[in-house]
Amino acid sequence: MATAAASKKNGSHKSTLVATPSVKQARLLIDGKWVAAKSGKTFATFNPATEQKIADVAEADAADVDLAVKAARKSLESGPWATMDARDRGRLINKLADLVEANLDELAALETLDNGKPIRDSKAADLPLVVDCLRYYAGWADKIKGDTVPVRGNFFCYTRREPVGVVGQIIPWNFPLLMVAWKWGPALATGCTIVLKPAEQTPLSALRLGELALEAGIPKGVINLVPGYGPTAGAALVKHPGVDKIAFTGSTETGQLIMRDAAATLKRTTFELGGKSPNIVFADANLDAAIAGAEFGLFFNQGQCCCAGSRLFVEQKIHDEFVEKLVKRAKTRKLGNPFDPNTTQGPQVDQAQFDKILGYIDAGHKAGAKCLTGGKRFGKTGFYIEPTVFTEVTDDMPIAVDEIFGPVLSVLPFKSTDEVIRRANATNFGLAAAVWTRDIGKAHQIAHSVRAGTVWVNCYDVFDAAAPFGGFKQSGIGRELGEAALSNYTELKTVTVSLG
Ligand code: NAI
Ligand code: MG
Repeated sequence: MATAAASKKNGSHKSTLVATPSVKQARLLIDGKWVAAKSGKTFATFNPATEQKIADVAEADAADVDLAVKAARKSLESGPWATMDARDRGRLINKLADLVEANLDELAALETLDNGKPIRDSKAADLPLVVDCLRYYAGWADKIKGDTVPVRGNFFCYTRREPVGVVGQIIPWNFPLLMVAWKWGPALATGCTIVLKPAEQTPLSALRLGELALEAGIPKGVINLVPGYGPTAGAALVKHPGVDKIAFTGSTETGQLIMRDAAATLKRTTFELGGKSPNIVFADANLDAAIAGAEFGLFFNQGQCCCAGSRLFVEQKIHDEFVEKLVKRAKTRKLGNPFDPNTTQGPQVDQAQFDKILGYIDAGHKAGAKCLTGGKRFGKTGFYIEPTVFTEVTDDMPIAVDEIFGPVLSVLPFKSTDEVIRRANATNFGLAAAVWTRDIGKAHQIAHSVRAGTVWVNCYDVFDAAAPFGGFKQSGIGRELGEAALSNYTELKTVTVSLG
């Protein structure tokens, strides 16, 4: 995910390595205190570029989650947060954004260390988007309001938007800190309290942000952090009767599991899940821009984007020329040490993702697709995979159907607008799509016909804190970002007063 500006920043960096940061925090945050897990257990987090352990992190399970939920409940119902003026909540969120800005280099380096993403992306995309998201929701804090309702009879009726309560937030590893910001921004603005479980692959930046939240003056117990594994810490959060709402970002399979687990306590749930997004290029497009967009839309963040443009539909008459230029461009991607500011592609996050992606590359070969570039591991250490482009792909091949979550692009030729709309929609996913054309009518026809939560026209991965994001179909339920996210974190209350 990136701003358009970030995507244009290329090649002007000096090749000095950015220093790796020290890990300042590796414990649980419960009721304003940094503590070990009750069990005493820890788990290791690794640097995916070196495969070396970075740190042992306290491993929360059900007992710790219970304490965290109780702390969040207490601070929801009593203490400074419960009675704080909305504008002062906004001020605290802005203070947190100030501290993120003041510590931007350190946080960006921590993100690169734990996740493997190139430092140029951490600095130019992840961190600025975190700051922007927090500031956007800081501005909302004192603007969340109800209505007066013209009911029959001698009554005064009005609505209030009240915090949904204690929210459990479970996030993935692909944009560790940005996913925290997407979750905390609207939760804090609406006055909720939080128990967040970062992904087991990338807990470090969320823990550091927890320290900054305390430094900003966000009262104890408002934000609690329970790093650990999904089936233990994550599932305990989903099942806990003291949690009012679960916000989840991750795989569709885990989303289904969480939906089932949340049913017993009828929790409010929002989901941001997987995708297999169509990126559609018509022959009349600005081809250089479309090629750059096809590369960026798939390879950015090592292909580990829920909205990755992994099905590239190219109009038949420009197919060969387009593919030739795209392959040339894919070959210029610079793989290597993510702390080198010239690196544009880092390692995949872990062995499991690395194995899954190589499995799909293998499946592509077996199904008869043609691999024009890449297809192998890069180097001997670290979970690097070469930028890979397949042609002669058919819609039913696994590489065209499943979310691969890696640097593997499937190119699919098409002949007509109706055909490409039908094929773009022939998927269980519906997160994002893009269309490249100079024909404004065709652009809007595609934008209205493709069943996806976001459609980009002549651009890709342009994100903004104000613009809602989320999925149709099995890509999710609900929207994050923008005003839309506020309704995920509020209950609507109707008050009727007799005037008789
Ligand atoms: P995952 O969905 O299992 O993990 C995401 C988060 O859910 C993590 O914090 C994990 O600990 C937690 N979790 C796992 N099982 C849970 C459970 N039973 N109850 C509560 N929480 C649970 O995804 P994973 O295994 O890391 O990646 C597998 C695939 O998922 C990827 O290859 C990719 O296709 C997709 N994915 C999609 C993401 C997106 O942004 N839409 C992000 C990450 C992965
Ligand atoms: Mg790691």
